[in-house]
Amino acid sequence: MSRKIIAGNWKMNLSTNQGIELIQQIEAVDTKHTIIAFPSFVSLSSIAKEAQKISVGAQNCGAFQNGAYTGEVSTQMIKDVKAEYVLVGHSERRVILKENNTDFKAKIQRCLEQNLKVIFCIGENLEQRQAGNEQSIVSEQLSQVLSSFNTSELSNITIAYEPVWAIGTGKNANNDQIESMHRFIKQFCKESFKTQFKVLYGGSCKPTNAQEIFSCKSVDGVLVGGASLKADAFISIIQAAG
Ligand code: 13P
Repeated sequence: MSRKIIAGNWKMNLSTNQGIELIQQIEAVDTKHTIIAFPSFVSLSSIAKEAQKISVGAQNCGAFQNGAYTGEVSTQMIKDVKAEYVLVGHSERRVILKENNTDFKAKIQRCLEQNLKVIFCIGENLEQRQAGNEQSIVSEQLSQVLSSFNTSELSNITIAYEPVWAIGTGKNANNDQIESMHRFIKQFCKESFKTQFKVLYGGSCKPTNAQEIFSCKSVDGVLVGGASLKADAFISIIQAAG
């Protein structure tokens, strides 16, 4: 099996001590795959210091360089604590925190200025899937955010396809749905941006379905929420990647 990316998005969970304990257990696993942990901002520095083999990223970043933006965290600050990645465009930030494509464009720009790698999340909701609009939704999310970046900038970006209806619901997309969407995303990006992106799958990935998800040819890795919070579950997902 080729080298995969297995990323854990801890969302608003785990104290710093719990995060350190989790990292220590994951670090003990021998794997050729790229493992990334996305802790909260409060824990980011401590987790980045603890992690030796695992990469660390921020779940969000400010859209501005620096200045009077109370409560925001700049990409310079993220870089400063030795994090390597930033998640941009997660559906929880789109839906609950009302961020839009203009925000994501600015955030990606800030990440690139600091040489941070981006995992850009896209995906349709249930209504859009039931109406058969999933491809047009995803291609719009890609075009509106990525079309202003050049190919060398785009090489720092990985896509995460996370259908909103599969996030936190226990109901993952099936292999046909994953395969056809990942192929569509890759083809669309090749034609539109002349770029070959890696595409991760996210949405109820867990020990019981990880092996099946990894069996999809077009899956370059997974972005895991709930199942990344417990060492045994996350480690079985890593092991399922072979
Ligand atoms: P779950 O794995 O909990 O469905 O969350 C997926 C996700 O949102 C990862 O970013």
